[in-house]
Amino acid sequence: MPATSVIGAQWGDEGKGKVIDLIADRADVVVRFQGGANAGHTVIVEGVKFVFHLLPSGVLHPGKLNVLGNGVVVDPAVLLDEVGQFESRGISLEGRLVVSGAAHCVLPYHRVLDQLREGEKAGVAIGTTGRGIGPAYADKANRCGIRAWDLVDEGRLRARLAANVDDKNKVITRLYGAPPLDFDEIFDLARDQGRRLRSLVKDTGAVLRRALREGQHVFFEGAQGVMLDIDHGTYPFVTSSNADSLGIAAGAGISPREIGHQIGVTKAYCTRVGAGPFPSELHDERGEQLREGGSEFGATTGRPRRCGWFDVPAARYAAALCAFDGLAITKLDVLSGFDEVGLVTAYEIDGRTVDEYPVDTPLIERARPIVKMFPGWSEDVRSVRSFADLPPAARSFVEEICARVGVPWEILSVGPGRESTMFREPS
Ligand code: IMP
Repeated sequence: MPATSVIGAQWGDEGKGKVIDLIADRADVVVRFQGGANAGHTVIVEGVKFVFHLLPSGVLHPGKLNVLGNGVVVDPAVLLDEVGQFESRGISLEGRLVVSGAAHCVLPYHRVLDQLREGEKAGVAIGTTGRGIGPAYADKANRCGIRAWDLVDEGRLRARLAANVDDKNKVITRLYGAPPLDFDEIFDLARDQGRRLRSLVKDTGAVLRRALREGQHVFFEGAQGVMLDIDHGTYPFVTSSNADSLGIAAGAGISPREIGHQIGVTKAYCTRVGAGPFPSELHDERGEQLREGGSEFGATTGRPRRCGWFDVPAARYAAALCAFDGLAITKLDVLSGFDEVGLVTAYEIDGRTVDEYPVDTPLIERARPIVKMFPGWSEDVRSVRSFADLPPAARSFVEEICARVGVPWEILSVGPGRESTMFREPS
């Protein structure tokens, strides 16, 4: 059976967690392949809110295997905390969670460096989540990182950690004038975490290739989104991994041929957290209405999200890059009550109308949105369960998005709960 991917088609926070949770029933395995505890997936089950930063969203489904692949950067403290939270709610992950030995660990010095670096760059800071993601990926690329296999082997851990703490302390003290970190403290903590995580650490690439060979259904769960991808997003205002479907094969240890069905997740509008270009941003009371109505505050950092209309050229770019088969459009309910709803159909850049998303960041920084307004609807749509029962204006708006992006919708979400969802009937 071909694998399915669920990828954020905007700037993250599109509702991927809910989408994965909805279709996880059909999966045997749910895999994260990039990012780390910078993600924040919220799933509401029978009124109980679950927020995951690191665990795949399949953890709420008994009998599914959850995998943190080699492309993820794993903060052992967050992982142990999330596993503990689930267990305290009576959800056991015993035998249902494996972590790649090749996944790099996020250690206390990565967080310290992330925060020092962001503080230093006041004014031009990226607005990272402060979770140490960039510094951990930098160590991976610099070939000095500590992988899960090192974490669970005390001898290897001591040697690699000593070199790292020494190196990082030079930067922390000499460059930033901050106090040095204590090796023994970091080592004792990491050794203890390694002991507790040892049984989870595996060659997950081999696990996944076997699952695929046996015809199991494997779901790949993206974190962040295409526009935050390190290669294809609004660099440098991006995260440090491939947050689109192009990162799946490398981050999971499987062939790109295995991915048969790709779902792009978008909101019916756009949001962005942190700095960087965001052409459709609304700086008026309509942006405020989206933020309040959509509870647009970061699941990881609590920061208010920037809000704007749905950006068609950006979504079309994401769809072309990932070859999405279908869209999952979320938060349509948040648009209820607007007299008119907008779509950014093109940009004006240096006096020219441009309807293709320009990938060079300074161009997108200068882009002014060309917005087309459509009639809004006043009805609360949260209890609507079939497309035909939506107000005509809401239906037209969804159809307009799909036609302009060139991808049909397959899931439509009209509220936070699992039940507030419709699936397109196979035609
Ligand atoms: P980092 O991933 O913490 O390094 O942050 C880099 C950029 O990605 C910042 O603008 C963050 O706000 C953004 N970012 C990281 N993770 C997420 C996410 O899960 N949702 C939305 N934005 C994110």
